[in-house]
Amino acid sequence: MKIGFIGAGKVGKNIARHLINAGHQVVLSNSRGPESLQGLVDELGPRAKAGTKDEAVHSDLVMLCVNWRDAQEALKGIAWKGQILVDVTNAHIDSPPDISLEGVTRSRVALAKTARTSSELIAEWAPGARLVKSISNMPMIWIDDFSESKPKTVLFTSGDDPEAKRVVIDLLSGVGFAPIDLGSLREGGAMYQVGGPLSGLEFHLKRRLR
Ligand SMILES: NC(=O)c1ccc[n+]([C@@H]2O[C@H](COP(=O)([O-])OP(=O)(O)OC[C@H]3O[C@@H](n4cnc5c(N)ncnc54)[C@H](OP(=O)(O)O)[C@@H]3O)[C@@H](O)[C@H]2O)c1
Repeated sequence: MKIGFIGAGKVGKNIARHLINAGHQVVLSNSRGPESLQGLVDELGPRAKAGTKDEAVHSDLVMLCVNWRDAQEALKGIAWKGQILVDVTNAHIDSPPDISLEGVTRSRVALAKTARTSSELIAEWAPGARLVKSISNMPMIWIDDFSESKPKTVLFTSGDDPEAKRVVIDLLSGVGFAPIDLGSLREGGAMYQVGGPLSGLEFHLKRRLR
């Protein structure tokens, strides 16, 4: 599969490497243009390309790997044509837009009934994309682990388009992770976005238990 990236910092780079190791192609983009990514694509090898944001979104699936404060700007002006967009961001409440103002409080997800989760906001900012939230709960220590013996990290996954969610779950399973479907962007997203009851928890399966 060809997978585009909006954002190619610490997380984007390592997710790209996992995907490349599983045989996929990646197109990386950032805010500064393809030239600034040349060193990174050289390091990642021939399955990686640097591109503009437009080139990155012309992929089978797109990963949004920017910081929450940059997400709305990063998504501006993109004409989505039904591509799957994976929201990898964590909406830290000390970083604007503050989703706690949307009614999602630290421990009481029930209060989120009338509020929008961070992924619902991302979906609004990317009309025409099929949004799936995933990978965001993955601890950096596991993103950084490329060893054969690495545990299978549990990746919470949610979305309102069952087919899009299935594609993401199959993709991440194929890369060696353990994605778990938590339901919709609203109900599932609220569980593991920053402040939700599953936020900050780390789950992984030891490979030898398979
Ligand atoms: N365990 C974890 O730490 C973890 C796990 C999963 C997900 N996450 C989430 O992953 C996201 C990325 O984290 P990170 O550590 O990779 O951040 P990072 O190293 O700061 O990288 C951010 C990337 O976003 C790009 N960017 C910023 N504004 C942009 C724009 N307007 N258009 C296109 N690209 C833009 C930056 O490009 P420039 O350098 O050119 O500006 C950079 O490539 C965060 O939301 C984080 O919460 C973190």
